[in-house]
Amino acid sequence: MKIGILGAGQLGRMLALAGYPLGFEFTFLDPATEACAAPLGEHLHAGYLDEAALQEFCGGIDLATYEFENVPQRTAELVAARVPLLPGPQALTAGQDRLGEKQLFVDLGIPVPRFAAVDSRAGLETAAARTGLPAVLKTRRMGYDGKGQYVLRSVADFDAAWAQLGNQPLILEAFVPFEREVSCLAVRARDGAVRFYPLVENVHRSGILRTARPRAADPLQALGEDYARRVLQRLDYVGVLAFEFFVHGGGLLANEIAPRVHNSGHWSIEGAECSQFENHLRAIAGLPLGSTALRGESVMVNFIGQAPALESVAALEGVHVHLYGKEPKPQRKIGHATVTAPDAATLERRLAALQVLLVEEC
Ligand SMILES: Nc1ncnc2c1ncn2[C@@H]1O[C@H](COP(=O)(O)OP(=O)(O)OP(=O)(O)O)[C@@H](O)[C@H]1O
Ligand SMILES: [Mg+2]
Repeated sequence: MKIGILGAGQLGRMLALAGYPLGFEFTFLDPATEACAAPLGEHLHAGYLDEAALQEFCGGIDLATYEFENVPQRTAELVAARVPLLPGPQALTAGQDRLGEKQLFVDLGIPVPRFAAVDSRAGLETAAARTGLPAVLKTRRMGYDGKGQYVLRSVADFDAAWAQLGNQPLILEAFVPFEREVSCLAVRARDGAVRFYPLVENVHRSGILRTARPRAADPLQALGEDYARRVLQRLDYVGVLAFEFFVHGGGLLANEIAPRVHNSGHWSIEGAECSQFENHLRAIAGLPLGSTALRGESVMVNFIGQAPALESVAALEGVHVHLYGKEPKPQRKIGHATVTAPDAATLERRLAALQVLLVEEC
């Protein structure tokens, strides 16, 4: 089976690495010159709205998916008119606009932080009256790794926030003093079968994910699954969906969804029976889903900006290194390692040994 992937970053690369053992082949379409999945398949180096390139892309594949949720809507429609595009264009729309996403959660009865749309400088005052302060001003579209966000602590911050972000549609959200952040990774097959990975506990710094650790028996597992199932059903979703939550007051507040494989699921390559990447491919290819059960303890650590020396990290027991083949650059995710262990105490020891080698930049 030939699978087309819109986007050729590290997620596309790890999808291909999971797909080759199943006999799949891959074609990527990505305008970036540095597309790190390109060596793993055919790479069409073209813009997402290049109709001739899209035609060539669709001509050589059985079905398509995406690893980047900001693929233009028009691209999704053009592809979906020619080959099955999974998850469907409606899932892409849902994940692209933070305001629409929040409204979807409200519609589905899923709790969210207080929020309001902001379309003008005066509107910022009105929105803040609704959310209270502190609050986070975010671009409605295209944000990632905490980019396009400004934390407002008092009215004295409004002018600077507006100067930085004010020329585009925005949303203001109450700042949640969360106890923890978790994500629910779910996968839905073409026949509607659903499986969930154990909830993952995520630690961010400066808006960027640093570590992700699956929890075998999180007390919020059933609630996370319930909320994720509502979204999967509403969007008639096929593939892996990531749902990010704040844990607050012992319950879950929805932050955002990503209609694709997700950084908080990378541990599953070594830490689960079937990884998020393989399960995404199984789902879209119409195969039975694989087990989401844990294989012992694990935690994923991102390499941000710089990776530790390979000779040093390769010497550590239970540490599995993934380098994406990207140029090191400040704030950039260039790789990760998953630490595995048979028990929690050993995991902590192995994680501490890895952390000594990490070059932290922020
Ligand atoms: N309303 C909020 N209250 C408290 N913290 C927040 C809030 N919104 C965002 N954050 C913090 O910033 C992080 C990144 O925010 P968010 O998930 O909205 O952005 P993103 O840029 O889409 O991130 P990514 O694509 O990496 O998931 C969150 O995981 C959380 O740690
Ligand atoms: Mg996020």
